[in-house]
Amino acid sequence: MATPSNNARVLSGMRPTGALHLGNYHGALKNWVDLQYQHECFFFIADWHALTTGYEDTSQIEEHTWQMVIDWLGAGLNPSAATLFIQSKVPEHAELHLLLSMITPLGWLERVPTFKDQQEQLKERDLATYGFLGYPLLQSADILLYRPKYVPVGEDQVAHVEITREVARRFNHLFGREKGFEEKAEKALKRLGGKTAELYRELRRAYQTTGDESALDKAAVLLAGNAHLTIADQERLQGYLEGTGRMILPEPEVLLTATPKVPGLDGRKMSKSYGNTIGLREDTDSVAKKLKAMKTDPSRMRRTDVGNPDVCPVFDLHKIYSPESTRQWAAEGCRSAGIGCIECKKPLMDAVVVEIETIRSRAREYEENRDAVREIIMDGCEKARDAARDTMDEVRGAIGLEYR
Ligand code: TRP
Ligand code: SF4
Repeated sequence: MATPSNNARVLSGMRPTGALHLGNYHGALKNWVDLQYQHECFFFIADWHALTTGYEDTSQIEEHTWQMVIDWLGAGLNPSAATLFIQSKVPEHAELHLLLSMITPLGWLERVPTFKDQQEQLKERDLATYGFLGYPLLQSADILLYRPKYVPVGEDQVAHVEITREVARRFNHLFGREKGFEEKAEKALKRLGGKTAELYRELRRAYQTTGDESALDKAAVLLAGNAHLTIADQERLQGYLEGTGRMILPEPEVLLTATPKVPGLDGRKMSKSYGNTIGLREDTDSVAKKLKAMKTDPSRMRRTDVGNPDVCPVFDLHKIYSPESTRQWAAEGCRSAGIGCIECKKPLMDAVVVEIETIRSRAREYEENRDAVREIIMDGCEKARDAARDTMDEVRGAIGLEYR
């Protein structure tokens, strides 16, 4: 896993599945909220991806998208810190997807583990479509369009970032070759200025002779922050550094989100499809009622039976919400039958309610002011399009479709 460096660009997305639950929050969103103050972040709603598995009924997509945006804002994503946008409002995603489809072998897509898994899991739907096969490639386009250093995702998306890297490598290999590459790189190096150029040469030598990754990182920072270089020259020097051709689409890295196990009310993983969720903006009474009824260690039938916190989903929630002292109190009380399950759940209820209450009250303001939400998204889309346009200029130029 990558150790994030500051100021690197970060990109991630979510499909618009509707109102989020605590599993989504602790599995992804909370991490995004932290990242937005450490990096330049782009977060988007992958509404086209929703079509790949749900094209028959599209009536909910828009409302689900807005609800998800409101959840994001409620959870603390800050539009002045992170760029929030909608995939389909940035048509460059589709253009890059199409261009990448020209160079992507079918076998790469057929081999992505989620392809067969999902087809088997969602048997009732017809997923033998072109769009579904292309799901990971659309995701590759989503990512490469912004040339991020990091893509924060959970374990289930790692294969998609992996194929993204392969596609980027292939693109650079095919279109990063140009006549007189070395001469052009050397010329660009002159533009860097004496001291910086010298440092670049040193770092390049270090990387190419010893494979020293930190030298690579340092040199990349040198290039990224240099106002004298055009983007094309940056790409040349990046490629020259690594001993490849021009690096038009840099390979992103996974920033693996440490996902705590968030149990649902029935003890299985919290998931919308199991109907065992607690909503991110659910009202207090309903949360309390659900937690009261939440499954515990099944062998603890009566109050006088001892229990085992290690097999109890309620205790998994304590691991997320409670300080060490409370966890100890719960574990000991459980093992000695010193406390009952309702008692054990009490501090948890308080913590969950406080968390949800904070999110809900912030979300309410946006819920009541949809115009503000629309404006935030339209702003974000514009910023995203600016970044996307830069990449597409490079991409078209590299392929030879400039028509200037
Ligand atoms: N496939 C991702 C998911 O289901 C959503 C997604 C689409 C995404 N495009 C992306 C995530 C680009 C990260 C980067 O969760
Ligand atoms: Fe679970 Fe707590 Fe009941 Fe033990 S006391 S079974 S940890 S809810």
